[in-house]
Amino acid sequence: MSADGVTESSGPVPEMSDHAADCAARLRDADRVLLASHIDADGLTSAAIASSALERAGIPFETVFSKQLDKEEVASIAATEYETVLFTDFGSGQLDIIADHEAAGDFTPVIADHHQPADADTEFHLNPLRFGIDGASELSGAGASYVLARALEDEDGANRDLAALAVVGAVGDMQNSQGGLHGANAGIVADGVEAGVLEETTDLVIYGRQTRPLPKFLEYASDVRIPGISNDQNGAIEFLSDLDLDLKADGEWRRWVDLSMTERKTVVSALMRRAIASGVPADRIDDLVGTTYSLLAEKEGTELRDVSEFSTLLNATARYERADVGLAVCLGDRDDALEQARTLLRNHRRNLSEGLQWVKNEGVTVEENVQWFDAGTRIRETIVGIIAGMAVGASGIRGDIPILAFAEKSAEEVKVSARGSHVLVRKGLDLSVVMREASRAVGGDGGGHSVAAGATIPAGTREEFVAEADRIVGEQLG
Ligand code: C5P
Ligand code: C5P
Ligand code: C5P
Ligand code: ZN
Repeated sequence: MSADGVTESSGPVPEMSDHAADCAARLRDADRVLLASHIDADGLTSAAIASSALERAGIPFETVFSKQLDKEEVASIAATEYETVLFTDFGSGQLDIIADHEAAGDFTPVIADHHQPADADTEFHLNPLRFGIDGASELSGAGASYVLARALEDEDGANRDLAALAVVGAVGDMQNSQGGLHGANAGIVADGVEAGVLEETTDLVIYGRQTRPLPKFLEYASDVRIPGISNDQNGAIEFLSDLDLDLKADGEWRRWVDLSMTERKTVVSALMRRAIASGVPADRIDDLVGTTYSLLAEKEGTELRDVSEFSTLLNATARYERADVGLAVCLGDRDDALEQARTLLRNHRRNLSEGLQWVKNEGVTVEENVQWFDAGTRIRETIVGIIAGMAVGASGIRGDIPILAFAEKSAEEVKVSARGSHVLVRKGLDLSVVMREASRAVGGDGGGHSVAAGATIPAGTREEFVAEADRIVGEQLG
């Protein structure tokens, strides 16, 4: 209820509305704001949503990005002239450090994040976990930023168009299960659909519906492996050629988006028949079809039209020190920035596939409760987590225990990424605790989500770290 007794709209996530209003009011009180965000798809979309909302509210701001918000990074933020700092998609895990700076009078923090909070608190802290909402699967950093943006809008519903970016962030953080985005995310999807910027459909959940020519589309589908098609270029071409469809136009293979509904149905049925005939288990076959999201304002056949391809495009910029390019794309640049992002994407894709191949060739070391590999300098530390996630359950790599992935950060520091599964989380696995405690035991620090977390540790402490992590995982699952 507002002062004049009129019931205000409850916003996309009612549980968070009141606190979002307090955070928005604090931002409106600021002369100017330093916006600090994380360098992945969720962090970029968080920054784009927050900066659009600040801009529309007439609040001056500047945006900075950081790979990892550690003591040094927070100190450099504190050293700026800004008295108000808005942290998006990080900040909660570093609350202890941030609270110290706040107490010292360096700045007032406003945080829109979804990571496990460190042991401290602050007044303006918009995190779904504080409202009984799961930060790993029900709301992302972009989602929390969207809730804040809705609280900042001048006119009811004026920022609803930003729901499109919030959905890209959620999908970038892998919050879409086969049944689609759920929990608080569902409220954001509804906003986007109502605003006319988002479409939710049931479709093949293979990566590349918008941009990949059909044979590549099927060949690269790796989540559900179909013998004779997945990872088999000739097999994929043969499968498509045997269908009674005209799948080429002007001699070029068409893409999934180019097909009519009837044509798509024909391909899906044939794929399913092939999968059944090759002995793919029924529940895996069901996984071929699921909920997908498209951005209606974007051109068909572009990376931006499909939410999942959009998020990969963003990772391809920010994880290679070009967050500026990704942010510009989010903010609507469809010329130079998009061209640059596409070049970065080609490089990112090559790195992902080479990295995954390297892991498959080298294999992993299996301990009692975890498995691990150390990529050294072979895989960039900013993408070793994505590759670890793609590797779990791939040929020769177990899917029933968590994976730890190491990569060299510098001569002094090593990056660790950890990935588990929802089945393990239900049994008690919490990788954010594993990463925080095991890294602190060897003089590093870390955190994240129960299903996916990370840490930085001093060079030379890997063995001790693995032993510590192995022990904690054993306790959690024991
Ligand atoms: O920092 P942030 O929250 O954005 O990163 C989340 C990371 O966790 C992403 O790299 C995402 O791919 C990963 N993740 C995962 N499996 C899940 C949920 C998240 O690998 N089920
Ligand atoms: O890069 P990002 O984490 O957004 O990728 C999400 C998922 O998309 C990956 O886990 C992978 O399965 C798929 N992907 C792919 N081919 C690419 C990039 C991503 O299959 N070139
Ligand atoms: O870097 P990576 O993709 O492995 O990160 C997985 C999750 O762990 C992300 O949510 C990230 O923000 C978090 N993380 C963290 N502290 C670190 C490294 C990663 O909280 N030192
Ligand atoms: Zn996030």
